[in-house]
Formats: sequence, C-alpha cells, structure tokens
Amino acid sequence: MNQSVGLVGWRGMVGSVLISRMREEGDFASFNPVFFSTSNAGGAAPAFADGAGPLMDAYDIDALAKLPIIVTAQGGDYTTAVYPALRAAGWNGLWIDAASTLRMADSSVIVLDPVNRDVIDASLAAGGKDFIGGNCTVSCMLMGLGGLFRAGLVEWGTSMTYQAASGGGARHMRELLNQFGTIHGSVTSALADPASAILDIDRQVLAQQRDPQLDSSQFGVPLAGSLIPWIDADLGNGMSKEEWKNGAETNKILGRSEADRIAMDGLCVRIGAMRSHSQALTLKLREDLPVTEIEALLAADNEWVQVVPNTKEASMAALTPVAVSGSLTIPVGRIRKLEMGPEYISAFTVGDQLLWGAAEPLRRMLKIALGTL
Ligand code: HSE
Repeated sequence: MNQSVGLVGWRGMVGSVLISRMREEGDFASFNPVFFSTSNAGGAAPAFADGAGPLMDAYDIDALAKLPIIVTAQGGDYTTAVYPALRAAGWNGLWIDAASTLRMADSSVIVLDPVNRDVIDASLAAGGKDFIGGNCTVSCMLMGLGGLFRAGLVEWGTSMTYQAASGGGARHMRELLNQFGTIHGSVTSALADPASAILDIDRQVLAQQRDPQLDSSQFGVPLAGSLIPWIDADLGNGMSKEEWKNGAETNKILGRSEADRIAMDGLCVRIGAMRSHSQALTLKLREDLPVTEIEALLAADNEWVQVVPNTKEASMAALTPVAVSGSLTIPVGRIRKLEMGPEYISAFTVGDQLLWGAAEPLRRMLKIALGTL
C-alpha cells in the first residue's frame, strides 16, 4: 500500500521542475500524491495524476496533518506561516522543503544525498523529521567538488560565483530577457548597418541601460549587459547572506562541527545567465596532490560530476551555463595548480540551479523517505 505524500507549491518554478523530474523518473508510482494549493482549493488536481482528489487548502492544518510526508516548494513565507502551526498541532511527519527558512535549525538536515547520505540516514535513524534543500550555489559546488571535501583534503576555499537570473525567481528571468530585448531594440537598425560606429551603438546601449524607464523592478538595477556584485540581504558586516550561506551550509551538509569547520568564503555575483550558476574556486588543499589524482578523486565521487580537461576547447564546450542548463551533469574544470604554491588549486564548476540546485535533492529525499532509494 503506497503512502500518501502532500505536495505544496508544485506549480511554481522549482515545483514545476520537481514534478517534471518526478514524472520523468516514474516516482509517482510509489506514492499517492495529495496536491495542495494556496489559491485554488477545490480545483482539479493536475491531469497526469490519475486518481488524485481535488486540490486541498495548503493552509488547512488538519488536512496537512493527515499526511505522513509533506514536500513543499511553496517558499519561505509559506514555511514560516504553516510549519510551526503544523508541529504545534502535534504533526510528526517528514517535512521536505525547498525554502531556506528551516535550513540552519539544529533539527534540520540539508539534503544532498550524493554528498551526505550518511548524515541523512543518521538523522532518519535518530527520528529526524525536517529535511531541507540547500542553497543552490552550495549544492552545485559540493556536487562538483565533493570528492575533495569528503576526503578531508580541503583546508579552506574561496568561491567566486556567477549566478543566473533564475536564482531570483521566474519574474527575474523575464526581466532579464525584457532588458536584453529593449536594449537590442534601441540599436537594431544601427546594428544592421555594417557602416555604423560601434562606439555610437555602445553609447546608445548605455543610455538605454541607464534609462529609468528600463524595467529593473526585480533586480533593482539593470542586469542585461551588466552584473550585480551582491545577492540577497546585507548582513551589515560587509557580507551578503548568499556569501554567508557558503560556509554555513557547506559545513552543515558535510556534518562538520564548529571545531573542524572548513572556512569557505567569497563574493557572490549575479550575471545575465538564465538558470545555471557557475563558480570559480580557489582551494587550499592539505596535501600537494598531483592534478591527475585530484581529477580522479573528483570524477569518482558521484555519477553526475564530469571532469573537464583543462584545455580551451573543452572548457568552452562543456563548462558554460549554456552547455549545462537542463542537465543533471555537473562539469568541473579549469583545475590547475596556482602560483601561490603546490597546495593551491583553481577549479570552475557549473550547475543547473533548478535541478541539483533545488528540485533534485528534494525528489531524492522523498525517495529515501519512501525507502525507494
Ligand atoms: N539564492 C540563490 C540565488 C538561489 O539568488 O541565486 C536559491 O538558492
């Protein structure tokens, strides 16, 4: 007899990717989905879900409390509103959540099973109930470089990120595209004329980017043809919240205590990519390992990591957001020793922010909870 699983926030961007991955993998055969909605209770369940009843009210604590497992991609405000009430009502089920709200709570595990299955299993065995998806940049970084971290070879690291518009949300992606379109529209005829002067075109582009009429309501400043060197809240100590997550979540995912914490820090930057986050890393290793050995360690860590040879051709072909988006592959390349010394290496990795960065760890955590992974 299949268990029932409550699904909340399945229509948004992360939720849609999650549902589509579950359908691709045939996950729905192993549980009975109960679809919840924050806005359309009583409406019809999605057509693909044979036999699922009408949509339930996602704020109905009694209805939620009947489910042994709830998976939500509804967002942090929903978690804040519903989770405490549900636990206060005595609900003892498993809460699998994409939002960051509960991530750092002592009772939560950040789920990334190819990297921390041991931490997940230990928590389940100890009665843990809260399993939360990690920050996308951190999850993608650990999927790519987990081999070095898990072998205890990283003394410290910096991660300088190039984060895609999707990290902000669906509206941010639209805004980026609209900006590209508006900017292009302002120079279309000059571009079509090979005799036009590029500096005139550039001047017009800049005027368009600086035009207060250009819609930048989501990002706050223009992103198309530019970048934004700040992501998420200002913590008031010079650090952005996104940057703080790097060290905090990496160590939590790896199950490391304060005493054996790995220092991970760096600057997080928004760029005009669509849905794949990239990051350039500097790692200080504990040993002077040959690059071939480092590559072998990384390649053997999980089935999704792909070591890209450190050549121009391979890097340009395989190590870009365009190459990676829509795929579960996590390429890692540009691995070389840095001038600072034999223990210092560079690396560059790219990951689809909506797959390994959001939906996939949740989908897999549900399977772990159901005993099918
Ligand atoms: N905070 C990330 C970003 C996305 O803005 O790119 C969610 O992990």
